[in-house]
Amino acid sequence: MLDYRYSIKTAAAIAVLLALPSGLNACQRERHFHTHSHVKRQASPPPELSEHEALIVSSFDNNSISDWSYYYTHGNHIAGHNRSQAQWTADRWAEAGFETRLDTYHVYLNYPVSKSLVVTWPNGTTYTPSLEEAVLEEDDVTGWEDRIPTFHGYSASGEANAEYVYVGRGQQVDFERLVALGVELEGKIAISRYGGPFRGLKVKNAQDYGMIGAILFTDPADDGNITVAKGVAAYPDGPARNPTAVQRGSVQFLSQYPGDPTTPGYPSREDSPRADKGVVTPHIPSIPISYAEAGPILAALDGYGTSGADVNRTNWVGALNATYSTGPAPGVTISLTNEMEDAYTDIWNAIGIINGTNADETIIIGNHRDAWLIGGAADPNSGTAIIVELGRVFGKLLEQGWKPKRNVVLASWDAEEYGLVGSTEWVEEFIPWIKDTTVSYLNIDVGASGPHPGISSTPELHDIAVETMKKIVWPALGGNETMYDVWVDDTEGEIGVLGSGSDYTAFVHRGIASIDMGSDPGPTDPIYHYHSNYDSYHWMANFGDPGFLVHKAMGQYLSILAYHLATDDLLPLNPVNYANELEAYCQDLRYTIGNATEDVDTSELQSAIETFRVHAEEASALADLAVESGDEELLRVVNHKYRDFQRGFASQGGLPDREFFQHLIFAPGVDTGYAPVTFPAVTEAVEAGKFELAREWVGKTAAAILVAGEVLKT
Ligand SMILES: *[C@@H]1O[C@H](CO)[C@@H](O)[C@H](O)[C@H]1NC(C)=O
Ligand SMILES: *[C@@H]1O[C@H](CO)[C@@H](O)[C@H](O)[C@H]1NC(C)=O
Ligand SMILES: *[C@@H]1O[C@H](CO)[C@@H](O)[C@H](O)[C@H]1NC(C)=O
Ligand SMILES: *[C@@H]1O[C@H](CO)[C@@H](O)[C@H](O)[C@H]1NC(C)=O
Ligand SMILES: *[C@@H]1O[C@H](CO)[C@@H](O)[C@H](O)[C@H]1NC(C)=O
Ligand SMILES: *[C@@H]1O[C@H](CO)[C@@H](O)[C@H](O)[C@H]1NC(C)=O
Ligand SMILES: *[C@@H]1O[C@H](CO)[C@@H](O)[C@H](O)[C@H]1NC(C)=O
Ligand SMILES: *[C@@H]1O[C@H](CO)[C@@H](O)[C@H](O)[C@H]1NC(C)=O
Ligand SMILES: *[C@@H]1O[C@H](CO)[C@@H](O)[C@H](O)[C@H]1NC(C)=O
Repeated sequence: MLDYRYSIKTAAAIAVLLALPSGLNACQRERHFHTHSHVKRQASPPPELSEHEALIVSSFDNNSISDWSYYYTHGNHIAGHNRSQAQWTADRWAEAGFETRLDTYHVYLNYPVSKSLVVTWPNGTTYTPSLEEAVLEEDDVTGWEDRIPTFHGYSASGEANAEYVYVGRGQQVDFERLVALGVELEGKIAISRYGGPFRGLKVKNAQDYGMIGAILFTDPADDGNITVAKGVAAYPDGPARNPTAVQRGSVQFLSQYPGDPTTPGYPSREDSPRADKGVVTPHIPSIPISYAEAGPILAALDGYGTSGADVNRTNWVGALNATYSTGPAPGVTISLTNEMEDAYTDIWNAIGIINGTNADETIIIGNHRDAWLIGGAADPNSGTAIIVELGRVFGKLLEQGWKPKRNVVLASWDAEEYGLVGSTEWVEEFIPWIKDTTVSYLNIDVGASGPHPGISSTPELHDIAVETMKKIVWPALGGNETMYDVWVDDTEGEIGVLGSGSDYTAFVHRGIASIDMGSDPGPTDPIYHYHSNYDSYHWMANFGDPGFLVHKAMGQYLSILAYHLATDDLLPLNPVNYANELEAYCQDLRYTIGNATEDVDTSELQSAIETFRVHAEEASALADLAVESGDEELLRVVNHKYRDFQRGFASQGGLPDREFFQHLIFAPGVDTGYAPVTFPAVTEAVEAGKFELAREWVGKTAAAILVAGEVLKT
């Protein structure tokens, strides 16, 4: 995963509006949500399964999943470095009966050469952190000779020598606060906490404020009560974060466009024309460090500038022994260097296909394979182990005579970590076929890093995604609950809205129904060492998912969901729920506008949503008729409406100044990079005080909703 799973779920997520007072239109109603009709804790009846579902469930084997996991987490597989892992993946799928191939792209990446950091006090005392993670005897891959150093993907080479300033989480509002407090930023180096916005945007913000370098650290405050300071033993002895853990990761400006920075909008080949990468990659050097090594750097600012308490922003003060003062401390300087090597190099997506009986309907199941580490047991290879096992299990179904109606495509993406590169280039190459045939894209990235399942998806997939959870027995947290029970207890039945941060991005922004799934730690579970050497097989087997039983349950879930999307006579998609969600997003927009200094009339949007609802209900009625009659032609007509209507939400020209992001209903926030914004063009214009732009995009968004409705019309 390019950035850590966001925890923000909109209140709108799975809510359904109650019967409404007449005479009010969609966005003016009181906001009464009740929980979805099936969001009610079950009494854990044993799930009733069809023959094929039972075969899927019983064929999933935690021992083979553990073998696949072991394979992927014992070899350097940073983007562009391990063709044999791509081939091995394709070979497993070929054994199961898939037609396989490797799709190769020639992309821009960069790799670390060297780096250094020295803090110098006015009296000449210096502090030189190691910038590397401790080698652990218990976890051998942490000491491999070809282990990957700590660095930022797509970071700039360069050096910086200056006083430094603590900038909180590095969001635009943090910088605005620093300016208001009179803290000098120009020419200084930024030190920022991880968390909140995507890391690349922290570096971008620092650069935009005239700063000349950036250092990003993980703060133990993110770990709640599972910390060394609170007496919990650190990995490998216990579940707390190892103090030397460092979060690697890309610093691409994700909210502008993902994919190869040098080939926006078209696939990367050896002879492709190359655009200026500087639009989406930083010019100033940046490096990541551990909390142990950040401590003294922060503490040196104590007593200088404004103290953390007086800055008075949430998530400013963390849990290190420092006052989180802004600085700068006069004469206390950092000397930072970062040397990167540019590479134009091959990456390999492994692809496996089973042809369906309906050539013009396809489902795609994807996961990335590349990791910043020798390990990567959670990110992404928990998902990789799961889709290799899924391939094996689908092979068993084929042996039993299963003939999927729809083409089933498995994809193992490369170079996701740098900026969703493998999946984006692939979508850019195959976009006509993808738009013509794809019914859904199912993504699994960090499939298991703890025992709490979560999903985010486009609205027409909500029902089937929730119903499928009731068929899975969840292993953790007691052992006799369904996935659905556990999920409802954790989330109150909320399904996330897709922003960005994993490989569904290029699909959803071309109007493809998409879902992303995974399982994460809760506040009392072992700390997951995201993008650190300690995201290893040893950590997974001892702390993250001992027994690989969460992997197994997530695999059963993904497989049954994919099975129904590939097999059911009527596609299990619900366009009426899209209308429900649009209404809820519209109410959110009314609240945003209500807080702004000018009104923006949204009646055009409201009436478009009402028209959309009418057509969604017509299509749904036609679907009932098709199922009752069993009329193949009618089923085909309805299935194609369900497949195609979402294309209407994608606008060719994209969002204002963000051509790549075409979906007018949701997008990653400009200043978050991955957490979602709904009605993004309108919402972000209102928030920026650009009311004319907001009015223009009310019209354009309404027009897109009408196009989607037109597809559903009968
Ligand atoms: C590629 O990965 C495999 C399995 O993880 C490993 O055995 C192999 O050594 C790796 N190749 C390279 C060149 O690192
Ligand atoms: C130099 O200054 C630092 C920070 O004030 C202090 O910790 C250190 O003891 C000083 N060293 C000497 C040799 O005075
Ligand atoms: C940490 O423990 C305290 C005291 O038991 C509790 O009140 C608090 O909710 C816990 N915090 C988290 C994040 O679990
Ligand atoms: C912190 O900010 C809040 C909200 O803006 C304000 O009410 C409060 O007075 C501020 N506190 C301090 C100590 O400045
Ligand atoms: C925190 O830092 C202060 C000032 O440097 C020091 O006196 C104190 O002992 C430190 N506390 C801990 C728990 O390390
Ligand atoms: C699957 O369909 C494609 C496209 O029609 C065709 O080229 C390919 O040969 C088919 N594969 C099999 C195994 O039938
Ligand atoms: C499983 O369910 C039974 C009965 O429903 C209950 O008595 C038992 O405590 C549960 N077991 C666990 C481990 O939660
Ligand atoms: C698989 O699960 C069983 C219990 O269901 C457990 O005994 C076994 O150790 C697990 N295998 C692995 C590799 O963890
Ligand atoms: C509107 O302002 C109120 C009060 O400041 C705040 O609580 C609320 O979150 C704001 N709503 C939106 C949508 O920004």
